[in-house]
Amino acid sequence: MTTRELQDRIIELKKEKDVCILAHAYQSHDIWEVADYIGDSYGLSVQAAKAPQKTILMCGVRFMAETCKILSPGKRVLLANALAGCPMAMQINRKQALEMKKAHPGLPLVAYINTTASLKTVCDVVVTSSSAVRIIKSMPENEMLFVPDCNLGGWIQEQIPEKKLHLMKGGCPTHMRMTARDVKMIKAMHPHALVLVHPECLKEVVDLADYVGSTTGIMKYAKESDAKEFIIGTEASIVQHLQFDCPDKNFYLLSKECVCHNMKMTTLVDVLHAVEGTGGDEISLPDDTIRDARKCIDRMIELGG
Ligand code: 13P
Ligand code: SF4
Repeated sequence: MTTRELQDRIIELKKEKDVCILAHAYQSHDIWEVADYIGDSYGLSVQAAKAPQKTILMCGVRFMAETCKILSPGKRVLLANALAGCPMAMQINRKQALEMKKAHPGLPLVAYINTTASLKTVCDVVVTSSSAVRIIKSMPENEMLFVPDCNLGGWIQEQIPEKKLHLMKGGCPTHMRMTARDVKMIKAMHPHALVLVHPECLKEVVDLADYVGSTTGIMKYAKESDAKEFIIGTEASIVQHLQFDCPDKNFYLLSKECVCHNMKMTTLVDVLHAVEGTGGDEISLPDDTIRDARKCIDRMIELGG
């Protein structure tokens, strides 16, 4: 089968079987072309809650599919590839989070959305890279715990110096592979290019950037900018998507190391098998996990606007 034939079959089946396909921005372009909605983690959660279809197929990583299930417990939620997980989400579990709260009595726990459903049951609010500054600014508390990404946390702290964030030593193994040396090397090759990076990058990389934002924030900035060349410091797929959308501009990947192997697990054939009903991993969570984790996700949507 050709890519086009596979895509046509998926489009036909998703209508027939009432499936909504959600794809994270880091998915490959062939998957983007069959998706009903593409977005960053925040956009996907909001969309998951709104989707009218009976089944949601998440092309992304496990915490994203869990978030969909928490927001739409009555729907069938499938993760296109069962092995696609976010290693950062495994860096802190519920027990460790409770210990952290015990060590800092009275402080709210703010969790990055890249965490497990079980951890979210003991959080006060969830944030994403595109909503974190807005949400934390609007919280009444001036001091809080933030888990697990200390690079994102440090970047938020710089934007909101009036608040105090207690961080742990976690982070994204993909984004942490990019260094200031990589920025300098690629900038020497393309001196006029603007540097756009994700806040999961190391501070030494963020400090050299012209723009810092979520995956969709980076894409919006590049599309709206008058500049013609951009160095992209996030997952490699974003370079490909931007190149398709803006053929008159040039995009360069900040480092060849910037590939998220978990995001890249999902293939178009996985998507076909999931819509056919022969593949995909159905997400099932205990009722009390859904009930307790939902509170901090609802709060994110309420404060995130
Ligand atoms: P976004 O919220 O920017 O989509 O980020 C998700 C993610 O996993 C980044 O590594
Ligand atoms: Fe997780 Fe990093 Fe991959 Fe995003 S890029 S899914 S944070 S490992």
